[in-house]
Amino acid sequence: MSLAEIAVAPPPPNAPALTAAEVFAQARAREESLSRLLMTFVISGLFFMVFPGTFLGVWNLLQISGRESVASISAAWLQAHGHAQVFGWVGSFILGIGFYSIPKLRGEARASLADAWFCWGMWTTGAAMRWVANIYLWQWRVLLPFSATLELVAFLIFFRAVSGHRAQGSGKQQLEPWIFVVASASTGLLLVLLTNLAGCFYVALQTTTPAFPHLFDQRYLALMAWGFLVPFVWGFSAKWLSVFLGLKPLRTNFLLAALATNLTGFVSILFGFAFAGSCLLILGATLAAAAIRIFEHEVNEPKTRGVHASFPFFVRLAYGWLMVAAALGVAATRWDHSGGVWGASRHALTVGFISIMILCVGQRVLPAFAGMRMLWSTKLMLGGLALVTLGCTLRVSCEVLAYQEYASWAWSVLPISALLELSGLTLFAINLLGTFVLEPSHARKQSLVATIAGPAKLP
Ligand code: HEM
Repeated sequence: MSLAEIAVAPPPPNAPALTAAEVFAQARAREESLSRLLMTFVISGLFFMVFPGTFLGVWNLLQISGRESVASISAAWLQAHGHAQVFGWVGSFILGIGFYSIPKLRGEARASLADAWFCWGMWTTGAAMRWVANIYLWQWRVLLPFSATLELVAFLIFFRAVSGHRAQGSGKQQLEPWIFVVASASTGLLLVLLTNLAGCFYVALQTTTPAFPHLFDQRYLALMAWGFLVPFVWGFSAKWLSVFLGLKPLRTNFLLAALATNLTGFVSILFGFAFAGSCLLILGATLAAAAIRIFEHEVNEPKTRGVHASFPFFVRLAYGWLMVAAALGVAATRWDHSGGVWGASRHALTVGFISIMILCVGQRVLPAFAGMRMLWSTKLMLGGLALVTLGCTLRVSCEVLAYQEYASWAWSVLPISALLELSGLTLFAINLLGTFVLEPSHARKQSLVATIAGPAKLP
């Protein structure tokens, strides 16, 4: 909904009559508050991505490569890294974009905006607390369950807003397919947060370290990856990619079949049928790619204005990584004896698929959501994507070769891969911060024009 559409929306009953200029000013103020909220979620997400997430990931990988063993590293540190990336970064982006989109459609800005800020505070505190507890072990028996509770309550606030959107939003009889997929991913996130809460209470009461036990963690990660992260990206792909990439219309039946197959796949894995479940995940990913028609020729010109022209290539590459991740998952059930094939599959998914998609679509939509700004630098966008792609390629291949003891030289490539990924993700963070800080918003551009044009308009 555009600013103009909000401005002409009917006022609530019994509201005092406002002039057109007042309605327009209110709509603009509301749009600006939503953009501020979104930018806050994004900036805190970027902070988690760079420092508690990627820096710690690089540090862990340097230690693993130095000792040529993953077993010698603290599981609590590995999990602190994973949690900061998935909840601190990806989760903050999802909540921020969700809140930005929803209250605009609902037309009850004040209440939902206060709730959204409250949600941000709880989510960010929860994610930060979890990191501190896992790394410093300070009061971890208390902090761990408390952090998981904060994250769950924050998400419930968001979930209530999403449900409101569903019920009152567009007024259409049927849900659009992408909303259905995002709703199922939100349910996946809810289950992940409940599992996280249960795991935190379990370790706080029963074990001597804040790390989840290995088998529990493996299943928790499968649920997180395929029950929450993957369907979220499919949902946003279904909403945006046909327009952005000029693709043929979505195949709705394929998308729903992909969702059902994926669900059956990861539920099978959770119940211990790892091979059959992993095969179903490949089938689900293939159906999703066919639904979105990501590998088919475009029928319209891709919309790359404001981003780097390589945008369609990298989006397709991300879906290629999804296939690699799913295939490595099947290989892991047969040949993994070191955690290396599982690790490679996980990073093909989290870095290759999820991160590359966020780098592409994030830099395409976030500048516009943040007050109709332009992306600061398309060259930085290309640089970030190229470095992450190179780093991920080295990481995924060498993790299998090194951990599985197929080639000892691969140990010395892993630190390079980590530094390349770190550089790529840091460029992405710099580009978004540059966009928010250095690029003028639409409102600022208008006030500059008004200032310049002002004296000429005086009577
Ligand atoms: C510079 C980039 C990154 C580096 C160097 C890195 C490094 C690592 C390392 C060394 C592990 C331990 C397991 C293994 O050896 O494979 C790990 C696990 C993990 N990583 Fe990353 N990672 C990076 C980026 C990411 C990103 C972007 C995400 C998510 C969006 C992510 C999510 C995870 C998760 C969920 C785990 C599993 C944690 C657990 O065992 O519970 N990582 N990472």
